[in-house]
Amino acid sequence: MKVGILTGGGDCPGLNPAIRGVVYRGIDLGFEFVGIQEGWRGLVKANYEPLGLADVEEIIYQGGTMLGSSRTNPFKNPDDLNAVLANIKSAKFDAIVACGGEDTLGVAAKLYSQHGVPTVGVPKTMDNDLSCTDFTFGFDTAAGVGLDAIDRLRDTARSHRRVIVLEVMGRHAGWVAWYVGMAGGADWVTLPEEPLDVEAMCAHLNSVRARGKKYALIVASEGTNIPTDDTEAVVDSFGHVNLSNRNVGEYLASEIEKRTGWESRHAVVGHVHRGGAPTLFDRVLGMRVGMKAADLVNNREFGKMAALVGTNVVGVDIVQATSVLKTVPADLLELIKSTRK
Ligand code: F6P
Repeated sequence: MKVGILTGGGDCPGLNPAIRGVVYRGIDLGFEFVGIQEGWRGLVKANYEPLGLADVEEIIYQGGTMLGSSRTNPFKNPDDLNAVLANIKSAKFDAIVACGGEDTLGVAAKLYSQHGVPTVGVPKTMDNDLSCTDFTFGFDTAAGVGLDAIDRLRDTARSHRRVIVLEVMGRHAGWVAWYVGMAGGADWVTLPEEPLDVEAMCAHLNSVRARGKKYALIVASEGTNIPTDDTEAVVDSFGHVNLSNRNVGEYLASEIEKRTGWESRHAVVGHVHRGGAPTLFDRVLGMRVGMKAADLVNNREFGKMAALVGTNVVGVDIVQATSVLKTVPADLLELIKSTRK
């Protein structure tokens, strides 16, 4: 079988191991591979490179994606969609393995369900917000970077007797903030899943200070519901607003200082989350879901996504996986409340 592989959306550590997993397993199954460059844009423009063992052998420890990425949505423009369908035919691809989050896999789902294109999905996202899979690779590394940041901020916050707000990525799901806040011992965590209560947060900071603690740490998800005017916001081709422009961390630090009189600073992890070597967890998960994707292709189980369910990697329905965002559930929100002491 001739199999095209692409990676779309925001890059994250684990993509290279996933590509390696697809190719390593696919070699055993007798597949020929083609690397489609820069996400769905590579199929719009017919931009491909051959992909073999020598290309993927050394990439296990590398962040980013050797295939390049883009946020191209071929369903935005009928000409692009027609180009994708024509190019898949003329390149004689028997299957497309798409590695991506809700947007990239949403395209794979629609190509399969509306146009019969034989697609298989590999879930990736540092946001961990894809349904039907317990974790996505990229999340463990990205949250680990956030944890390192809060551990460093603790030193300076304690020295200067300050409040420091750490803004983390995660889009409309608070997974990164929840994990960084829990593991980093934050005094308060703000998440998109909860209404923002600045008054309660400041009252808590006052009580923390009154009991003698000399510094405080806040973890704020970039998707926190701060008062903003998003009417002028720039959106990408999937309709997503760039949340980093909302400056959640800066807003919260200034509100805290204004309301409590406690000197406050903020720091933003931003794209630093997404760089660097994948953790052991993300490398192994990347390899496993990549290998499963090759098996799904071999079994002609198209329209499926390789997913981690418990400790197993299984095929799940790609349309279902991309139809609802997986956000932090109520029981975990309750647990984070118990950390506010
Ligand atoms: O989806 C991954 C992510 O890193 C989000 O957490 C963040 O909001 C977004 O991508 C940033 O996108 P870009 O790289 O296009 O600025």
